Amino acid sequence: MSLPSILEAAHHFAGAHLESGAFAIDATVGNGHDTLFLLRTVAPEGRVMGFDIQMEALAATRKRVRDTDPALLDCLELVHAGHETMADRLTDEMSESVGTVMFNLGYLPGGDPDVITSSETTLEALRGALELLHPRGTITLVAYPGHEGGAEETRSVHAWAAALPHAQYQALSYDFLNPSDASPRLIVVQKRAR
Ligand SMILES: C[S@@+](CC[C@H](N)C(=O)[O-])C[C@H]1O[C@@H](n2cnc3c(N)ncnc32)[C@H](O)[C@@H]1O
Repeated sequence: MSLPSILEAAHHFAGAHLESGAFAIDATVGNGHDTLFLLRTVAPEGRVMGFDIQMEALAATRKRVRDTDPALLDCLELVHAGHETMADRLTDEMSESVGTVMFNLGYLPGGDPDVITSSETTLEALRGALELLHPRGTITLVAYPGHEGGAEETRSVHAWAAALPHAQYQALSYDFLNPSDASPRLIVVQKRAR
């Protein structure tokens, strides 16, 4: 048996408290693997909202979902915008109603490697995601230190998570002890139950 990869571990933590019928957000839909995972977990009563700044990513995600199970499209809303707009887009009544927000940083595999997430907008999105999470809701974030700007972004998100108030959140870093410089890193944040 192999140890769970960082991406498998992200799915484990994202799905651990996510029930059928829940509301989930994919903050970086990319090629749609995480979106599909979330849809399979929350459908048919639940809903997934997915963000990406590239139309190419939204089209790839829609295609992946349609090719897998067209009925899942009924539970999906794709938004062509940066995840930093997430909190503003969701009305006050959506506050504390989201089960999971998944982030998978970096660039679109197979796409333009120059279109990447940035520390500033990622941190803004993470702050917004905290407001949206319900108690026991989780944020999973996979960061890639190997590309230009990636190491700085990885350090920024680690520092952000490490500084979260202990009484309100648990923050976990799931890492291999001997990663390569480019290996992805996983951060999980859970809002504590009140
Ligand atoms: C590593 S890919 C995501 C992979 C995806 N989760 C999957 O399962 O295939 C990163 C994505 O983040 C997107 N992105 C970059 N900046 C963004 C932003 N500010 N808001 C939302 N998405 C962004 C990129 O366009 C790219 O598609």
